[in-house]
Amino acid sequence: MRVTHQIRKIQPPPITEVKSWLSGRVFPAEKPLVDLCQAVPSYSPAAELIQHLKHSLDDPLTFKYSPDEGLPEVRSEVCAWYQRHYQGAPTPGQLCLTIGASQAFWLAISALCEPGDEVIVQLPAYFDHLMGLQALGIKPVYAPFDPATAGQPDLETISNLIGPKTKAILLVTPSNPTGAVIPAEQITAFFELAQSRNISLILDETYNAFIGTTPHSLFNRPDWQNSFIQIASFGKTFALTGLRCGALIANDEFIQQTLKIQDSMVVCQSRPAQLALEFGCRHLDDWVAKNGVIMQQRHDCFKTNFLAAQTDFKLIASGSFFAWVKHPWKDLTGRQAAKWLVEEANLICLPGEAFGPGLEPYLRLAFGNIEVTQIAEAVARFQHV
Ligand SMILES: Cc1ncc(COP(=O)(O)O)c(C=O)c1O
Repeated sequence: MRVTHQIRKIQPPPITEVKSWLSGRVFPAEKPLVDLCQAVPSYSPAAELIQHLKHSLDDPLTFKYSPDEGLPEVRSEVCAWYQRHYQGAPTPGQLCLTIGASQAFWLAISALCEPGDEVIVQLPAYFDHLMGLQALGIKPVYAPFDPATAGQPDLETISNLIGPKTKAILLVTPSNPTGAVIPAEQITAFFELAQSRNISLILDETYNAFIGTTPHSLFNRPDWQNSFIQIASFGKTFALTGLRCGALIANDEFIQQTLKIQDSMVVCQSRPAQLALEFGCRHLDDWVAKNGVIMQQRHDCFKTNFLAAQTDFKLIASGSFFAWVKHPWKDLTGRQAAKWLVEEANLICLPGEAFGPGLEPYLRLAFGNIEVTQIAEAVARFQHV
């Protein structure tokens, strides 16, 4: 079957590829598989949320379409959540519920860019962003990774990359894969840069519930609507990755235009996802905060263990969920290094080059997947390989 050259050029989905290396492998009880591959909270959703969804199955409405942008009461509840967590909020008309942050990204880029346009992307970049841009024929213009700043984007570097075809600056905070959190005042500076150059700032804030502070104050500015687009995910926040709970936030007119894509792409976010999201936003602030502390403890534990370990792997950056490490083999790509770890250490993680060009010396470890009691063992696997 014919497949376009544009699609053939895209890398295979990295997590699927890495998991395929496990095929036929059996891991002994004394050295079980350590899975640092995918960023999924290890815990279940809140019991009361599960109970709420169980009850909703008795209502025939649960199985029907909703308005394209989502149910009004759910969008209002999400806005109230923003008011509490950002001390500023979009209105329900500035929000479209989506099939995860992934689909919100596609809506944003498809409405903002035409094939041949450019989007500035900070390296290392979330692989699905790169794959989405390539699929849509949009050129990613890379802001290089500087190990010295642990992956923090640099304002001047990014400013110098803006050209006539640039439509947006795309940043992820906290970063996947480095865990780096962009400070609120830097986010303001990137917003002001985007506004002054008549382009958009797209922020993917999938991990915003794990920072422990207000991520930024953009929603307090009346002018945020001119140049700010937020990609939101509630999958990690409420441990609902499989329900696919995301949102696109932008000005009313932009949201109205994206509904043309929404309607033809998915019609709407599924109702069970919307009901879960409404319940989570209304009732689960304490549950989310408690899990945020657990994730912070995992990070502290991982970092302490890794820095104390006798290993030739170097910790370059880390934060909630993720660590970005340099492997010790100059002649190996990240893919080869990751395969070696599967063979020798019974551990899976992602190769650096999945996150953009030139990143072969690195690996991404998603330790948010494992319990604090498993972290010492996971770190030990990086010794003696
Ligand atoms: C930075 C980032 N954006 C988006 C996503 C996708 O989120 P969702 O599951 O809500 O589509 C992920 C998932 O790992 C991610 O790390």
